[in-house]
Amino acid sequence: MSRIESLLTSMTLSEKLGQLTMTACGHAVTGPTIAGDSTAAIKSGAIGNLLNLVGAADVHDMQKLAVEQSRLGIPLLIGYDVIHGHRTVFPIPLGEAGLFDPEAWTATAREAAKEAAADGLALTFAPMLDVSRDPRWGRSAEGPGEDPWLGMRIAAAKVRGFQGDDLSKADALAACAKHYCAYGAVTAGREYASVDISERTVLEVYLPPFASAVHAGVASVMPAFTDLAGVPMTADAAMLQGRLRGALGFDGVIISDYNAIAELINHGVAADRPAAAALALKAGVDIDMMADAYRHGLPIALERGLVTIHDIDNSVRRVLALKERLGLFDDPYRRGARAEDGAQVQKRRQLSREIGARSIVMLKNAGGVLPLQSRVKRLALLGPLADASAEMRGPWWGAAGADGQVTVLEGLRAAFPTAQIAHAMGVPIAADDVSGMSAALQCCDGAEVLILCVGEAATMSGEAASRAHLGLPGVQRSMCELVLARARQLKIAVIVVLFSGRPLVVPWLIEAADAVLAAWFPGSEAGNAIGDLISGRSSPSGRTAMSWPRAAGQVPIFFGQRPSGRPASASDHFTSKYLDVANDPLIPFGFGLTYGNFEIDNLRVTPQTVSRSGSIEARVDVANRGDREAEETVFLFTHDVLASVARPLLELKAFGKIRLAPGVRGTVILRFAAAELSFLGLDLAPVFEPGEVEILVGPCADRSRLLKAVVQLS
Ligand code: NOJ
Repeated sequence: MSRIESLLTSMTLSEKLGQLTMTACGHAVTGPTIAGDSTAAIKSGAIGNLLNLVGAADVHDMQKLAVEQSRLGIPLLIGYDVIHGHRTVFPIPLGEAGLFDPEAWTATAREAAKEAAADGLALTFAPMLDVSRDPRWGRSAEGPGEDPWLGMRIAAAKVRGFQGDDLSKADALAACAKHYCAYGAVTAGREYASVDISERTVLEVYLPPFASAVHAGVASVMPAFTDLAGVPMTADAAMLQGRLRGALGFDGVIISDYNAIAELINHGVAADRPAAAALALKAGVDIDMMADAYRHGLPIALERGLVTIHDIDNSVRRVLALKERLGLFDDPYRRGARAEDGAQVQKRRQLSREIGARSIVMLKNAGGVLPLQSRVKRLALLGPLADASAEMRGPWWGAAGADGQVTVLEGLRAAFPTAQIAHAMGVPIAADDVSGMSAALQCCDGAEVLILCVGEAATMSGEAASRAHLGLPGVQRSMCELVLARARQLKIAVIVVLFSGRPLVVPWLIEAADAVLAAWFPGSEAGNAIGDLISGRSSPSGRTAMSWPRAAGQVPIFFGQRPSGRPASASDHFTSKYLDVANDPLIPFGFGLTYGNFEIDNLRVTPQTVSRSGSIEARVDVANRGDREAEETVFLFTHDVLASVARPLLELKAFGKIRLAPGVRGTVILRFAAAELSFLGLDLAPVFEPGEVEILVGPCADRSRLLKAVVQLS
């Protein structure tokens, strides 16, 4: 008999439910911890999994209680939110998405896994794969942005990175694809609100990144807090048992979100905890995170006949199987057995600096004001984010300390060692205090250039951080306006470094500044990454993975919209448009300037006619007409012009990159399988319909900048 089956035969009900329970342990967490002596509960087998405990010594202490002092010696599964780094922080996922580089996505996850595993952890609640088309939603910061195809690539890369090639290795973490599914479509962008979208949209937009994670072998999945058309995901048997386990073939562990099982009562679908526990278990949720509903509710649910011991055993089997895959039975102390050496940590910081710089999107660079000449002697550095180590981490900073990040001030001092840098905070990020304004204005006097670091606080995105106003918080706008006016008087250039966990609505700022860097939150090496770009040590190459609206009233806004029966026309009143703002975003998906000056032309697409089993290849020539070496990203979109179901105006199918020295020309080749042009037909089953498909290639999702060719599907 296998280890798992023999354990099952000897486990009491309480021990089984312990394996289905995950409890927060130790320091600050994202919600209330349960009361009670969890140490005793580990020894009795009533708690079999933990979250939010870091540090190899602490983890091993807890593990010892389970392995050496509980009756069956089953090791604990210990998880943590390693979202974009652990102690070393990489850019927030939305920023990193804009690298359009699967190897880089994998590399940061691999490094985060190594660092977290060295801290004793075996599970991360990542990657977050919720497509988001609504910047009001704070969790946009944690995910892949607006496009499902991009989300699929990121999903596969991240699972590979976290899990490595063998989950039992001492540096591998079990990944958890979250939050399944459609959380990004919360009503009005409001956190935890209801989701009510078509089944087609669920299948076409929100599900594909999860399908990709399952395909890549993700070990666990977390259902979203939200409901989908009235059925909370934590209790949605059709989505979990049917689609995830059945159709997608997921055989790993489903872990509830924090207290989500108990919240089925608030959702109004369960009368009490036993009923909530029964709904979740029947739906396929294996581990109850923090609701204590399985431990205390399932015995009653069993008596009521709502669940069977067979249901419980199936979940226990899956949890034990994951512990076995992680090698926890063979050696529960292998993670965290050896501390990392300084060189490894240093290398990781270097990676964070490089990826940080590559995640930053240059939105504007009028007159080539950037990069700054190294002979610049007097800089004024203003704003509440100029010297703000803790903020540079962004939301979900893992186990990174508040003081460990390089600030912009520090980064610029290192990048311009001979320059004088006058620094003032001006105003705080969010409060109404204007007392520092005059000091900020004074700093401008005598400066050759002004760098304004403004934006959101790290905690203004991430969980429970929806915003209805998408401008600069607090009185930052007033400060910017005063400073911009002063800079105009003094005829000095203004460079804005904008920090945020989402696209902001700041057209006035982009208009008034000479240059704008959308930095998101770059992580541990933020200041150095920004210093590298401003000094020209590296050239910006980040692209935005979400559209930036002109006005908050445009959201949800995304490039993959369907055509209207009345397409917008300036000369026809009764067409699809706003009376007061253009339809298109201020900054389209994929946009990002470089220090080069690229021209893309000569699109060639082969073959002209293709069947489902074939593949399509597009080639474009790219020339760098600028005077600096830089990297260009080229996107390939398709549009199925005539189909049984209206297809989006643009669908992303490929991207490619090329680095070119000044004056040099090269070719980018983009390939994709014709089968990717299948779509869900009238009955929601995949179809491949003959006919014309436009192939559109260019630097971003702005149709006016895309070259076009047509292929025939046969
Ligand atoms: C709640 C969040 O929704 C989820 O993403 C996270 O993994 C858990 N809390 C655990 O911290």
